[in-house]
Amino acid sequence: MNLLDLVKARYSVRSYTDQTIEKEKLDYIMECVRLAPSAVNFQPWKFYIVESAEAKSKLCQCYTREWFASAPLYIMACADHTQSWKRRHEGKDHADVDISIAVEHLCLAATEQGLGTCWVCAFDAALCKSLFSLPEHIEPIALIPIGYPADEAKEKSRKSMKEIVFKL
Ligand SMILES: Cc1cc2nc3c(=O)[nH]c(=O)nc-3n(C[C@H](O)[C@H](O)[C@H](O)COP(=O)(O)O)c2cc1C
Repeated sequence: MNLLDLVKARYSVRSYTDQTIEKEKLDYIMECVRLAPSAVNFQPWKFYIVESAEAKSKLCQCYTREWFASAPLYIMACADHTQSWKRRHEGKDHADVDISIAVEHLCLAATEQGLGTCWVCAFDAALCKSLFSLPEHIEPIALIPIGYPADEAKEKSRKSMKEIVFKL
């Protein structure tokens, strides 16, 4: 699969089978995450693998959509704000940018391995922080369910090239 085919194949999976994810596949996906680029190579991230029944039940309290609970495993992608690069001019913290790149590596690698994922950001981050006793400087940015898809890809709806690309 070339990159465009992979990008086309990835979609937000919102229903999963209960099939467990092979350790080799998870290791492969996390290696793709680990190698993601980041501002000044600071790698200001922590990825928590949420797999135990207790941890899954806590995570599902933070995002209560029924479909979310069907995943066999989740990655809680967190920013470490003590390690992120801040732009000198106005102090912009680039942790979100860095985490986003790593998470998309995750989603594409999972797709390549025949697995499905879905970005989830509409969760209760404060509750998540408290349920998992995360320190002050660790911010949960995205929750990513991973599993074998039990649904089908829908046709992608995207803006046209001319709406988003401009020559200056
Ligand atoms: C940063 C980000 C946050 C998202 N948060 C959620 C979410 O909280 N819940 C959800 O069901 N989908 C979420 N999505 C998935 C988007 O709705 C989805 O990517 C978009 O509709 C395009 O569909 P596709 O991923 O199937 O191509 C999120 C996607 C991104 C990139």
